[in-house]
Amino acid sequence: MEREQWSSTLGFILAGIGSAVGIGNIWRFPYIVGVNGGGAFLIPYLIAVFLFGLPLMVLELAIGRSTGTSVISAFRSIQQRFTAAGLVIVAVAGLVLGYYLVITGWVLAYALSFAFNRPIEFDTFTGSYLPLVFFLLSGVAVYVTVRSGVREGIERLSRYLIPALLVILLFLVAFSLTEPGAFEGIEFYLSPDFSRLTDPAVWIAAFGQAFFSLSVGMGVLLTFGSYLGKEALFRNAGIIAVADMLIAILAGLVIFPLVFTAGLDPAAGVNLAFITLPTAFTQIQYGMLLGALFFLMLFAAALTSAVSMLEVPTAALMDSYGYPRKRATLLVFAAIMLLGLPSALSYTALNLEVLGTPFLDLADYMFGTIGLIVAGLIVSVVGGWFMSRTRICAEIGGCGWQQRAYMALIRYGVPAILLITLIGSFFRVAG
Ligand code: PHE
Repeated sequence: MEREQWSSTLGFILAGIGSAVGIGNIWRFPYIVGVNGGGAFLIPYLIAVFLFGLPLMVLELAIGRSTGTSVISAFRSIQQRFTAAGLVIVAVAGLVLGYYLVITGWVLAYALSFAFNRPIEFDTFTGSYLPLVFFLLSGVAVYVTVRSGVREGIERLSRYLIPALLVILLFLVAFSLTEPGAFEGIEFYLSPDFSRLTDPAVWIAAFGQAFFSLSVGMGVLLTFGSYLGKEALFRNAGIIAVADMLIAILAGLVIFPLVFTAGLDPAAGVNLAFITLPTAFTQIQYGMLLGALFFLMLFAAALTSAVSMLEVPTAALMDSYGYPRKRATLLVFAAIMLLGLPSALSYTALNLEVLGTPFLDLADYMFGTIGLIVAGLIVSVVGGWFMSRTRICAEIGGCGWQQRAYMALIRYGVPAILLITLIGSFFRVAG
């Protein structure tokens, strides 16, 4: 059977933005900026995105298109002994998806609760077994999408949801900026503290956030690349990276003005999106509507990201074991539900904890932070060192000096930065 392809370049770009723009942009980026030097944080972040994230995005796309297949079989075709490395990447994608769907479920519950004018309270909600139901619902939505295929499922979902997300986001930005707390909020969010830039932790936070936000290193772009035609890789990856960053910055312009308008202290971590902001919505005018819109937007972002993660193991099963798409999707869906179960139970009455840390937080640290960096290291080493230079050049438009500079970056720069980020994350200096 012939391999499916994106219906157009725009379709691919939208799916790429769908994957990149997720919970990481709308909830994580704003508070990371807030606590890491405000506007000054944009300097390390820009460097992280364009000097290191973007080259790795292009490498993944190049491996996918050049081998014409998904992670495991692509790695096997580069060298037999890299099959296991491919497996590691697929496992990381699955493990991240497991807990990501739990948060996606929370988001869905919040969206519905505001839409029906019945705001929920975090502890009450997570203390019940409802999160399990919403985890399952989100999983089913993702399953149904991926089962429908690259064009009819993944691409189509982003074609609807990404424009909708943008419209909601722009509306919310316009609203927030006219609220009384707008100035204070923006001051907290963006006023630059350049002295923070001498702190290595700030740089490590920037790299970790950039790689996660760009969906790079987990085989998503590699798999997406295997559905590409003759598109120019740098240009299209660049568009995705810019969109990803702009949407993240705009999200902060929604959150902090509202938090300050309600007279609340901006929190970090889970609390910001699931406690502080919802409280703000119960206190400001039109709060229920705004809350519903905000969480609907976050749900759209999370769903399109989760879909891209599910595609990684699904495509691997199809390509390596010859499974038809529908069967592969069902199998992976079932596995993900099991893998995510401990995270789904972690804030409930069962209170699944490891050493006093909720399992979900542990999963985010082990898989979403450490795992993602290890996977990125594998991709950059296998692609950069073991795929021939001519083969990569063929994907990125020739072998001039730019391409040679690019190769040097991929071989030395990106692995070095990932290694530093890995070591930093081990010691949790990035908080
Ligand atoms: N980029 C997504 C976000 O910001 C998360 C993600 C990571 C999706 C890796 C796919 C692969 O939420």
